[in-house]
Amino acid sequence: MDLFEYQAKALFGKHDVPTTPGRVADTAEEAEKIAAEIGKPVVVKAQVKVGGRGKAGGVKLADDPAEAKKHAEDILGLDIKGHVVKRLLVAEASDIAEEYYISFLLDRANRNYLAMCSVEGGVEIEQVAEETPDRLARINIDPTVGVDEAKAREIAAAGHLPEEVLDAAAVTIAKLYEVFIAEDATLVEVNPLVRTPDDQILALDGKVTLDENAEFRHKESFEDFSDAGTTDPLELKAKENDLNYVKLDGQVGIIGNGAGLVMSTLDVVAYAGEQYGVGPANFLDIGGGASAEVMANGLDVILGDEQVKSVFVNVFGGITACDAVANGIVKALEILGDEANKPLVVRLDGNNVEEGRKILADANHPLVTLAENMDSGADKAAELASK
Ligand SMILES: Nc1ncnc2c1ncn2[C@@H]1O[C@H](COP(=O)(O)OP(=O)(O)O)[C@@H](O)[C@H]1O
Ligand SMILES: [Mg+2]
Repeated sequence: MDLFEYQAKALFGKHDVPTTPGRVADTAEEAEKIAAEIGKPVVVKAQVKVGGRGKAGGVKLADDPAEAKKHAEDILGLDIKGHVVKRLLVAEASDIAEEYYISFLLDRANRNYLAMCSVEGGVEIEQVAEETPDRLARINIDPTVGVDEAKAREIAAAGHLPEEVLDAAAVTIAKLYEVFIAEDATLVEVNPLVRTPDDQILALDGKVTLDENAEFRHKESFEDFSDAGTTDPLELKAKENDLNYVKLDGQVGIIGNGAGLVMSTLDVVAYAGEQYGVGPANFLDIGGGASAEVMANGLDVILGDEQVKSVFVNVFGGITACDAVANGIVKALEILGDEANKPLVVRLDGNNVEEGRKILADANHPLVTLAENMDSGADKAAELASK
């Protein structure tokens, strides 16, 4: 789960990562009030889960509460890369001498943790990585050893941070690693990590992704942080039904069993859809036990997506045999009744495939087309979606 900056900073606060104090506001009046309470110049910052807010006009300095209010009015409602600003962070403005970059993340390729650090912070780090890769240090972290202040100092030095601030940076960086570990994050990124004129090292921005597999260990954080208003309603509905669903942008709804099969189904639909100008509308893995109820829940979520024009059900019968899946589809269509109103292309293969196909053929549902194989099914579904 990706966090908002203010949520990331709440976790920073819990682990004593130095940052500037601030509070969230949902209205310009609240922003003005918080600025008055802070009693110093502030920054008004858009809270959206996307980077580059500064460039997009979503981060503004204000010398006094009246100016904070004015900026808040401008920023609330702003569309930043498709994310509309509904909430602001009003934080004390910091004097900045230099801006650095630091992150901890999972290095999946090396089955390890990775620290990245650079003296060239503030700007987009992808740009640093591309143009001056030697300025962005990548340091492997052995999870069994971790990061103490000595290691943190090494990381800062490798990122070319100046000698005078290495000690202070080491303290902040070690605490950020503590956040990474203690909160079960897969990413903790601070850009910029700033040096103040009096050589303090503060985290002025914060991007944190929490590992959803560790939710059971952090019930409270997850409850506090999950934000119904900003999650896609279809994803929310899928989550309530324990479905592995990710909404995408296309017109062909997709249901399959097993993540690998669903991923390949996305590929073949994307490929087949090219000539029709359509693509996959979602990822949905109904897993091993494709019962009627699970199938109905899955179809319900997909059919609730207004963009969806057709659905491709691609199932390979293994432990759950094709006849069970076919019965699941037939029952699901019964359960959904009039709500099932878009054409379904079904490809079944594997265990008990003949029985499965027979069940669907006998049911003869007007919306269902049987496909011989995965490619022809993808093609048919794409063609139907383009009509
Ligand atoms: N508390 C602050 N005080 C002073 N300047 C800030 C503060 N927070 C952010 N900034 C400035 O705004 C820039 C953009 O803010 P940041 O939080 O990094 O948002 P984003 O990365 O989305 O653009 C920072 O690089 C920094 O120069
Ligand atoms: Mg930033």
